[in-house]
Amino acid sequence: MRQVHFAILLGFVALTNALPNHQNDGRSTKDAKVLILGGGVAGVIAARTLHEQGMDDFLIVEARGELGGRMQNIEFGAPGEQYTIELGPNWIQGTQTGDGPANPILTLARKYNLKNQFNDLDGSITTYDYNGFKNYTDLLDTSVDQFDQYIAVAAERIKTQQVDLNLQSAYGIIGATPKNPYEAACQYYQVDWVREYAQSPDQNSWIMSAWNNNFTFNTDMGGFSDTNNLCIDPRGFKTIIQAEAAEFLQSSQVSLNSTVTSIEYSSNGATVTLADGSSLSSDYVLCTFSVGVLQYGDVAFEPALPAWKVEAIQNMVMATYTKIFLQFTEKFWFDTQMAIYADKQRGRYPIWQSLDVVDFLPGSGIVFVTVTGDFSLRIESMEDSDVQNEVMEVLRAMYPNTTVPDPVAFLFKRWNADPLFRGSYSNWPASFVPGHAENLRATVNQRLWFAGEATSFKYYGFLHGAYYEGLHAGEEIAKCIAGGSCAGLQHLDDVVDASPYPFTSITP
Ligand SMILES: Cc1cc2nc3c(=O)[nH]c(=O)nc-3n(C[C@H](O)[C@H](O)[C@H](O)COP(=O)(O)OP(=O)(O)OC[C@H]3O[C@@H](n4cnc5c(N)ncnc54)[C@H](O)[C@@H]3O)c2cc1C
Ligand SMILES: *[C@@H]1O[C@H](CO)[C@@H](O)[C@H](O)[C@H]1NC(C)=O
Ligand SMILES: *[C@@H]1O[C@H](CO)[C@@H](O)[C@H](O)[C@H]1NC(C)=O
Ligand SMILES: *[C@@H]1O[C@H](CO)[C@@H](O)[C@H](O)[C@H]1NC(C)=O
Ligand SMILES: *[C@@H]1O[C@H](CO)[C@@H](O)[C@H](O)[C@H]1NC(C)=O
Repeated sequence: MRQVHFAILLGFVALTNALPNHQNDGRSTKDAKVLILGGGVAGVIAARTLHEQGMDDFLIVEARGELGGRMQNIEFGAPGEQYTIELGPNWIQGTQTGDGPANPILTLARKYNLKNQFNDLDGSITTYDYNGFKNYTDLLDTSVDQFDQYIAVAAERIKTQQVDLNLQSAYGIIGATPKNPYEAACQYYQVDWVREYAQSPDQNSWIMSAWNNNFTFNTDMGGFSDTNNLCIDPRGFKTIIQAEAAEFLQSSQVSLNSTVTSIEYSSNGATVTLADGSSLSSDYVLCTFSVGVLQYGDVAFEPALPAWKVEAIQNMVMATYTKIFLQFTEKFWFDTQMAIYADKQRGRYPIWQSLDVVDFLPGSGIVFVTVTGDFSLRIESMEDSDVQNEVMEVLRAMYPNTTVPDPVAFLFKRWNADPLFRGSYSNWPASFVPGHAENLRATVNQRLWFAGEATSFKYYGFLHGAYYEGLHAGEEIAKCIAGGSCAGLQHLDDVVDASPYPFTSITP
């Protein structure tokens, strides 16, 4: 801590010299009224909201060299055969039904003519096992029915105020525990993959996974639609958030390549220290770093965060979702958009997506396989070449009578190892209760605010969750500034059980 204080001290000196214009404008001796930490969807939309409220004295502080956060794309493929692929988010999840509510990500996509296409996740699927093609689409239909059943039973539990359980228990209770690799693969498709919980059933809240699904995909509950559109824009998905930022953001309102190392806060304001030793001061700080970054301790808080905040942060889960891309000189695989591979080990290279189809990137020779959760962590610890060997073993098992060549390009991003993310997105475990959600979003000392996909009760995990959280935080902070002060977002000191454990009355 001594080192941190020293850095802050040096930072102040540097700042007084570097930014004299901020010192005498009669408004404040601080660098900005609001420091927005992180330039992902939540940070950019919070900034836009402040701007719309006439509050332009803010600064976005972002470690990377561009805005967009987890929205990241790269050019992938052999020289001369490269295509834009998305390392992070790829879908607009839930679009719009008639003239009902539109997913705000879809609204941005329309505004900036983002190229996106309907992805048929229910109908366009080929099924495989370790001996090749194997038709088990009937089991896939059953698994859809089981999914509907567990979200309906979740609604009953909510009504009768029964405690939350995990999804493994839920499947057991409705009599749907997978009994073979095919049933397991179909369940994986519904739970770990298509709804993007990115974790196995035992790691998911029953109630919240049901709600999370309905709030986005079920129009009866205010959801957008049950459609997923895949972004295939050569500019990359991030273009929508960068173009939106370009409409209102001045260059003086964003500091790129600026990694935050510590946040010192009090009831009067905050000082943020950067990796280069400089520091920035403000009245308010909005922290939009992923809950994985907060859990890992990549950023120091001074004073340490209160116990109720630490509990909320540590009790959420940062799940990992990994897309492994392969390019071949020629397509030899399924003509559907999707394929499922049933391995003897659940979650072993199970979900395959072809980009080489007419609606996506025809002629690209690109196919990718997704792994999630603990399996993602496993492959992150391996060499690329070892992962490639395993993937090729599976692909050759899927096509026993085809000479499957080695790929000409191979790539995956290690989201969990990345110190700016520490995973892909949050996933709600059964032990996380509404009080924790409130505390994850709550303000500390009225000055330190939190927003991001993880603080969204209805849409945690999704881009639109990050969008709405940025909007909400921006509105609330603007109100505080306009009013001169505010109470901030309230928290619970203790998240307690509905009824106490009766240990004292248990005998013996
Ligand atoms: C592989 C993958 C697939 C996904 N698929 C989808 C999908 O198909 N559809 C969907 O809706 N959502 C999807 N998501 C989730 C979606 O990407 C997130 O919900 C959303 O991007 C989160 O935005 P955010 O602003 O909350 O956080 P972030 O985008 O993480 O923004 C936080 C910012 O803080 C910066 N930062 C972190 N630490 C520091 C530091 N110390 N100093 C300075 N800056 C720092 C980061 O660089 C980042 O820019 C996916 C995510 C991943 C990773
Ligand atoms: C950020 O850093 C990258 C890589 O060092 C550099 O190319 C880029 O110009 C920098 N951007 C800014 C705005 O400083
Ligand atoms: C592969 O070829 C063998 C022998 O001709 C045949 O029995 C088998 O059904 C084929 N497998 C697939 C998946 O086509
Ligand atoms: C798979 O089996 C189903 C019946 O269960 C059938 O309707 C479908 O056409 C079959 N698909 C293929 C590709 O053979
Ligand atoms: C989710 O929506 C389905 C379909 O309308 C409904 O049957 C179920 O009860 C809902 N579940 C919850 C938890 O809201």
